[in-house]
Amino acid sequence: MSTSSVNVVVHPLVQHKLSLMREKDRSTKGFRELLNEIGMLLCYEVTRDLPLELVEIETPVAPMQAPKIAGKKLTLAPILRAGVGFLDGMLALVPSARVAHIGLYRDPETLQAVEYYFKAPHDLSDRTVILMDPMLATGNSACAGASLLKARGALDIRFVCLLAAPEGIAQFQSEHPDVPIWTAAIDERLNDHGYIVPGLGDAGDRMFGTK
Ligand code: URA
Repeated sequence: MSTSSVNVVVHPLVQHKLSLMREKDRSTKGFRELLNEIGMLLCYEVTRDLPLELVEIETPVAPMQAPKIAGKKLTLAPILRAGVGFLDGMLALVPSARVAHIGLYRDPETLQAVEYYFKAPHDLSDRTVILMDPMLATGNSACAGASLLKARGALDIRFVCLLAAPEGIAQFQSEHPDVPIWTAAIDERLNDHGYIVPGLGDAGDRMFGTK
C-alpha cells in the first residue's frame, strides 16, 4: 500500500513565524498569536485542491459564472488541547466549517494517547476533515484522532501540524496511509521523553502559559 504524502509548507511567512515560536523567551501571548497566524496559512495550503464549481451570480455590472467551492463541507478537528491553537486562524478563513473536538492526553509513562472526550458531527462521510495538532511527535495522538474520525465515517481526512518528528511521520503513515500530512517543518528526532528536538517545547504549555 502506498504511504500518505508529506507536504512541507516552506512559505517564508510560515518559516519566519515558526522560528519566532521556537525561541524559548517568546511570550505566551506571542506564541498563541503566531500559532493562530500559522494556522491560517496552513489552512490556505491544505485547502488548495478543494474543487470549485461555476455558479451564476450578478456583479453590479453584469451576470457571470463565478467559481465557488463545490461539494463537500469542511470539518475542523483539533486535538485538545494544543490543536485548538490552530482553530481560530482556520475558522477565520472557513467561517462556516463545523468543529469536531478530540480530547486526548499523552500518558507520561507509556506516551500512549488516552481518549477523554470526542464530540463530532454525527456523520463525517460527506465531509473533508482537517485533523490538527501542532506537534506530530510519537504519532500516537494523531493516529488515535484519525481512527476516531474514521469510526464516524470520515473518508477524506487531512492532517495538519506545525512540527513533525520522523518517528511520528513513520507511525502515522503506517497506520493511516490514506491521510496526507501538512507540516511547517520536519525536525531531527524525538528525545527520551517523547519531545521533538530541537522542537519548541510543550506546545500546550507554551500556548496556555501553564508552565
Ligand atoms: N508535544 C509537545 O507539545 N511537544 C513536543 O515536543 C512533543 C509533543
